[in-house]
Amino acid sequence: MRPFFIDTDTASDDAVALVMALRRHDIDVVGVGVVAGNVPLDMAVQNALYTRELCDRLDVPVYAGEAAPLRLPLGTAQNVHGGDGMGDIGLALAGREPDAGHAVDALLATSHEHAGELTLVTLGPLTNIARALERDPSLPARVARTVVMGAAADHVGNVTPAAEFNVWADPHAFDAVLASGLACELVGWDISRYYAVVEPELAADLRSIGTPVAEFCIDIQRVVAEFCATETKLAGFDLPDPIAMAFAIDPAVATETRRLNLRVETESELTRGMVVMDLLGFTGQEPNALVVTAADRAKFLTMLRSALA
Ligand code: RIB
Ligand code: CA
Repeated sequence: MRPFFIDTDTASDDAVALVMALRRHDIDVVGVGVVAGNVPLDMAVQNALYTRELCDRLDVPVYAGEAAPLRLPLGTAQNVHGGDGMGDIGLALAGREPDAGHAVDALLATSHEHAGELTLVTLGPLTNIARALERDPSLPARVARTVVMGAAADHVGNVTPAAEFNVWADPHAFDAVLASGLACELVGWDISRYYAVVEPELAADLRSIGTPVAEFCIDIQRVVAEFCATETKLAGFDLPDPIAMAFAIDPAVATETRRLNLRVETESELTRGMVVMDLLGFTGQEPNALVVTAADRAKFLTMLRSALA
């Protein structure tokens, strides 16, 4: 049972990633921290609580975290995921109570309880993690792995031409995480585009598993499927957080990884949130992250199916 702490801006793909972790018998989800991103904080909290309840995992604590990025105003992705972040399909996403305490305090406390063993998986903007590092710069020494859904090794953005949403939303937080000494392993939006697109026939096949969880995981992708059809021109909806979670659960999901030097643009209007990856080693700078550059779609889909069963 490996201890996982998951930080999420819970919307339609985050929810599937949470399901994948909450329904594993070899993962101990010791805490879920929620951060503003895809949707405002209170909605992300409700979405996480709804997902936890659907998985019958009320034993897993869910904590509200930061409601805004470190310095920038919050920019959400409700145009991608729907107003409620969960496809606007009329789910009863209100009225649940999160656990007492702030996500940053919970992450720090958990890092002591599971010192050296903890896997931190981040599925949203890195605001909570940056705040935790401000409070306790020794955090990296207690975290075994930090798996980050963020950036894109092919430099193709999904919120601007240059930037992936999680980094764009809070580039200063990502910059702080890069500099912190956390052993970051990045699963970028390129990996989602190349290996985690769910075409309509596959979506129907997954939904036909017929469990409430399977129907939930497919139905909440309604708005993102429209966004992919009209904006990103993918052959179906993609699942960035779930393939990042799959890699966190089983690193063999990655078929190629590279240690690279990464730097993030925090100031430019044009390229805010762009993570420049030194693929050719031009800078001579030391690598500061492990980047997944290819993945095993079949392995990912097998893990997804078993989570929905
Ligand atoms: O760019 C994709 C990421 O942004 C995913 O984590 C998605 O949930 C959104 O937060
Ligand atoms: Ca997310």
